[in-house]
Amino acid sequence: MNKVAEVLEVPPMRIYEVATFYTMFLRQPVGKYHIQICTTTPCMLCDSDSILEALQNKLGIKVGGMTADKMFSLIEVECLGACVNAPMVQINDNYYEDLSPKDIDQIIDELKAGQVPPPGPRYE
Ligand code: FES
Repeated sequence: MNKVAEVLEVPPMRIYEVATFYTMFLRQPVGKYHIQICTTTPCMLCDSDSILEALQNKLGIKVGGMTADKMFSLIEVECLGACVNAPMVQINDNYYEDLSPKDIDQIIDELKAGQVPPPGPRYE
């Protein structure tokens, strides 16, 4: 961030303000699969709490953590623009929507097996 400020010839604080506000600026290493769970109101009303709990239980980490093998990192973010299919998570570039805790189990298992689960809404 200091180098960016130097190149742009702006005070470092201007860079810190932007980098610490937007969650897409990663300031620490993340896992091979970076999981962003939305817990903003529409997702929260559709029980994102149960999705977050399923993720934490399945991975054995808390929000802000990374698995020991560096495969998965987990952060909580504000609305990702998929409210119509809440609750949802973003894993790397893919959105997984209309989730249940069971879906989280399947998605994580597939990622661990080296597969990329099809993104999009999930219907029972
Ligand atoms: S509130 Fe979760 S995607 Fe908008």
